[in-house]
Amino acid sequence: MKTHKIQISTKTKKYSIFIGSKLIAKINKILSSQQLSFSKILIVIDKNIPSKFKSKLIKNLKSGVKKTYIFNANERNKNQRNVDLIQNILFKNRFNRDDCLIAFGGGITGDVVGYCASSYKRGIKFINIPTTLLSQVDSSIGGKTGINNSYGKNLVGSFYQPDLVVSDIDVLKSLNSREVICGYAEILKNSLLESYKKFKYLNKNFNDIINLKQPFIGNAILNSCNLKKKIVQKDEMEENLRKVLNLGHTFAHAYESYLGFSNKLNHGEAVIIGIKNAIEFSNQCKLLKNKSYNLIRNHVDKIPLNKSFKQLFKTKNIDKIISFMKSDKKNNSNNINIILIQNFGRIKTNYQIDQNTLKKFLISELNK
Ligand SMILES: NC(=O)c1ccc[n+]([C@@H]2O[C@H](COP(=O)([O-])OP(=O)(O)OC[C@H]3O[C@@H](n4cnc5c(N)ncnc54)[C@H](O)[C@@H]3O)[C@@H](O)[C@H]2O)c1
Repeated sequence: MKTHKIQISTKTKKYSIFIGSKLIAKINKILSSQQLSFSKILIVIDKNIPSKFKSKLIKNLKSGVKKTYIFNANERNKNQRNVDLIQNILFKNRFNRDDCLIAFGGGITGDVVGYCASSYKRGIKFINIPTTLLSQVDSSIGGKTGINNSYGKNLVGSFYQPDLVVSDIDVLKSLNSREVICGYAEILKNSLLESYKKFKYLNKNFNDIINLKQPFIGNAILNSCNLKKKIVQKDEMEENLRKVLNLGHTFAHAYESYLGFSNKLNHGEAVIIGIKNAIEFSNQCKLLKNKSYNLIRNHVDKIPLNKSFKQLFKTKNIDKIISFMKSDKKNNSNNINIILIQNFGRIKTNYQIDQNTLKKFLISELNK
């Protein structure tokens, strides 16, 4: 795949995203092309990235002081304790605001390290090198950072754009099929937000995409990044338009929180179940017509999941799930705010639903 450069321009920062093959080996050249140089760098590395990529990155990054920290990325470690551990390394080594923190890992690593970067001395340089499909198509773009706590998911965080994103698609080859599906969840969501044409492309090339075949996977990544760019540039702080990116996510975050961020349900898998709930409810309340509903529903049913909604939850869990939905960031009243779909490219944000209706709906989904 040839190298693509996408430029993001928001009110707070302008930066580039490089997408292509063999980019980790070229990291120093990329940094120079962006006039980025640092006297100190801390690289936070996901422990599951294959060693050859870890050593390639460390070898090719040139700077005065180079520190590494190996991070065990999972939702339970996406917390304040790890933020403190990482920031203490920065303090101990006297990093200042011109020095750089690099995230080399998936969405969890990027979110934690981005949050560390935004809050260390009110902001240090930040480079994201995403290594999962989900992080390359979604989480590395747009500057949302965050951590979880016992009240729920991503409830502490910031908007902090990186100085550079480098997505090397070669690093995706070591992902297991479950992680590829997680990335596909956000690719699918983005196609629904954009157009029938983009959805049709996924529907036709689904197997090639999830088997990471070119040019299909490359096109899917570029389409997602370009859509996210458009949205984030218009509404960086999620005041209006950016809310559409949360399609399926109010459900998803509540499921993940209910399960205590267990690896029984990964974020991307929760998003697929959440999208399924959102299209089902949109159809039941006559926002989404049968024809589009059937197309999306048939597609979603083809996606293999580790565990289904019914295998994960029971009727007696629903009240607690709803209480997590209520503490979601997107709510500011007693009703619950969900994002629904009217058609391809037509999303309804701010749909208020009362708890009883939601409860009945979720129970009926479990009993299907
Ligand atoms: N900031 C945002 O805008 C945004 C958007 C979407 C999702 N997110 C967040 O992203 C997170 C999910 O991201 P994710 O799916 O990348 O999860 P992740 O970071 O946990 O990575 C998934 C798994 O893959 C492993 N891994 C990473 N790179 C690998 C590689 N190259 N080869 C083999 N294994 C590898 C990790 O160790 C982990 O076990 C969630 O916490 C979610 O909230 C954030």
